[in-house]
Amino acid sequence: PLVAVVLAGGIGSRLYPASRHHRPKQLLALGGERTLLERTVARADFADEVVVSTRPAFADAVREAVPEASVLVEPAGKDTGPALAYATHRVAERFDDPVMLALPSDHHVDGAFEPTARRGARVAAETGSLVTFGVEPDRPDTGYGYIEPGPDRGAYAEVAAFHEKPEAEAARRYVEAGYYWNAGIFAWTPAAFLTAAGATDAPLAPLIDALDRGDPETGFAAVDPVSVDRAVFERAASGSVAVVPLDIAWDDLGSWDALRRILPADEDGTVVAGDASVRAVDATNNVVAGDDIHVSLVGVDDVAVVAYDDRILVVPTAAAQRVRELVAELNAEG
Ligand code: GDD
Ligand code: MG
Repeated sequence: PLVAVVLAGGIGSRLYPASRHHRPKQLLALGGERTLLERTVARADFADEVVVSTRPAFADAVREAVPEASVLVEPAGKDTGPALAYATHRVAERFDDPVMLALPSDHHVDGAFEPTARRGARVAAETGSLVTFGVEPDRPDTGYGYIEPGPDRGAYAEVAAFHEKPEAEAARRYVEAGYYWNAGIFAWTPAAFLTAAGATDAPLAPLIDALDRGDPETGFAAVDPVSVDRAVFERAASGSVAVVPLDIAWDDLGSWDALRRILPADEDGTVVAGDASVRAVDATNNVVAGDDIHVSLVGVDDVAVVAYDDRILVVPTAAAQRVRELVAELNAEG
């Protein structure tokens, strides 16, 4: 069977203060009526089975948001590497001859996803490769992983190298060289993933040993947080990873400036998310987000003003990626 695993255990810290520990990004209704998580689960409904993977802190909120889905809670939030090792191990135990499709739940997607997803799953089953889905970039975004395509095999290309979240200069080179963005969507057979992730010296190897012994708690306690991109894809042997192009509208909505790409702007270039209202005087190209709030802008350009709960964030849209640094400082202070 085709088993979709929807990843819903991240925080989405660059969307602070909308995203907070009690309300991660996937539970926000950014750019739509329903939460990003509900939209993702609906998008995966062609799979034979849909499992939502999350960390303990979000388990209740996730069950409430998608009561129809089965929820798999890992012992601790250690990023996508451990989460996917756990989910893949579980899928291998529960299903006969499965192909797994891993989906992030923090994306805005528009278009027919099923045909490409099925193609990727078929490539994973037929070749035993780890399959990534590649999006054609339109800017040197440093918030994404980049895939360097190798030989073209028709339904897919082999992956020559994978570069997770490069510096701006490298990102510019990658776009020019025709690399793909990593959509963060993957397909694999459990055997292919567990072999690659469990290779000697790989960061997830001790965790996979612990899962094989039936002791996930000890395995999660010992593993450092690491993304699947760094733990598996950047290290994978050449020839073992394949990329299938994903040709639909796709956006991670990673930071506040991203709203400009999916929401309509008024004549001043102002974009409003949530039910905030705005009065702008001599102010252009701003982003305003919040609920039940009126925001006034005078003589400012290219800033994001975001108000949620008792918190306000003001940031130039060009620096929106740096909200991550702010949140790290807030977390360090507790
Ligand atoms: N279960 C679980 N546990 N899920 C998690 C955890 C965790 O500890 N951490 C993150 N997730 C979920 C997030 O909720 C999200 O849906 C998905 O995993 C991806 O995590 P992000 O933290 O959003 O990753 P990213 O956006 O920085 O980077 C990834 O996605 C990009 C595309 O959006 C990478 O794969 C990049 O290479 C890729 O370009
Ligand atoms: Mg993301």
